[in-house]
Amino acid sequence: MKTEMIDLQTMDEAVRLLQEGEVVAMPTETVYGLAGDATNEAAVRRIFAAKGRPSDNPLIVHVASVEQAHQFVTHIPDVAARLMEAFWPGALTIILESNGTASTLVTAGLDTIGLRMPDHPLALQLIEATGLGLAAPSANRSGKPSPTSSAHVAYDLSGRIAAIVDGGETGIGVESTVIDCTMTPPAILRPGGVTREQIESVIGPVTLDPALSMKDATPKAPGMKYTHYAPEATLSVVEGDLSFLQQLIDDARQTGHKTGVLLFDGEDVDADVRCSLGNSMETAAQRLYDCLRRFDQTTVDQIFVRDLSEEGVGLAVRNRLHKAAGGRVIRP
Ligand code: TXA
Ligand code: MG
Repeated sequence: MKTEMIDLQTMDEAVRLLQEGEVVAMPTETVYGLAGDATNEAAVRRIFAAKGRPSDNPLIVHVASVEQAHQFVTHIPDVAARLMEAFWPGALTIILESNGTASTLVTAGLDTIGLRMPDHPLALQLIEATGLGLAAPSANRSGKPSPTSSAHVAYDLSGRIAAIVDGGETGIGVESTVIDCTMTPPAILRPGGVTREQIESVIGPVTLDPALSMKDATPKAPGMKYTHYAPEATLSVVEGDLSFLQQLIDDARQTGHKTGVLLFDGEDVDADVRCSLGNSMETAAQRLYDCLRRFDQTTVDQIFVRDLSEEGVGLAVRNRLHKAAGGRVIRP
């Protein structure tokens, strides 16, 4: 299959492809998504096939309004309505009771469904012009870091999907927060672009799925149980200060390893390849996946990163880093 790169002038083509049941990668404000008609079983099959995604991992349906969200659920509880009002369009996926309109492949047979209204003009344009709810997981091969540029999507999926709508680099850089509103109080199943603090300021206390902190608990979001974001090199999260980090890197180099390090601006550490996370947790979110993908283009075989704070979007960045590290933590 030839994968077409679509720009603003040829959006009509992307609309036509989606209406015909093809799958098209589209930019959102978080990461690129691989979109298909959520009510068309053949389209949804194509999404799973292109990504190599396990069929027990449900997809998020993207809508362009609260009204359109009603098409897919039995009802919208008050707490969810308040979240939509406060954070849509935006990086918040809300789990509600499904009414069966979406293909059962989208919900992976669950009686719930995840809905989100993305805050990106091109994604909203595609949803509105097709008139469809668009099922869209992140547009990466399963297990790889989510794509934050059209080049990342092309690297993973070229030849496997009909088209890529090029919207440049995404803004937030980590995926949406997933919150389950079928339970009281609601539970965050995946931390993401909208922070726990922001959510609690609108609806009061929420819980965190225990699986986010406890190793042995089974996560309620099926996708959170899979290995994710892993670079080809061994990634280790390091507790301790910069001199401990430098010591680890020096030791690794002395035993013949090529080393990589993820650093914030102003952190002076020497390694074979360094990738900058910028000067804040927001820039770290934007750059994390690109850094992980860049290391794959080098001969680095050991990557180190210092552990992060869980404040704000830090909760999401830290979650992705620990997943990418497969839980490997080095302590002084
Ligand atoms: O920012 C995002 O959310 C991006 C963009 C493209 O919108 N999408 C995304 O989709 O990250 P995906 O498929 O890579 O991750 C969706 C997550 C998975 O962990 C999945 O298990 C969970 O949401 N999920 C979806 N539907 C669910 C449901 N009904 N119950 C529990 N978890 C659900
Ligand atoms: Mg994903």
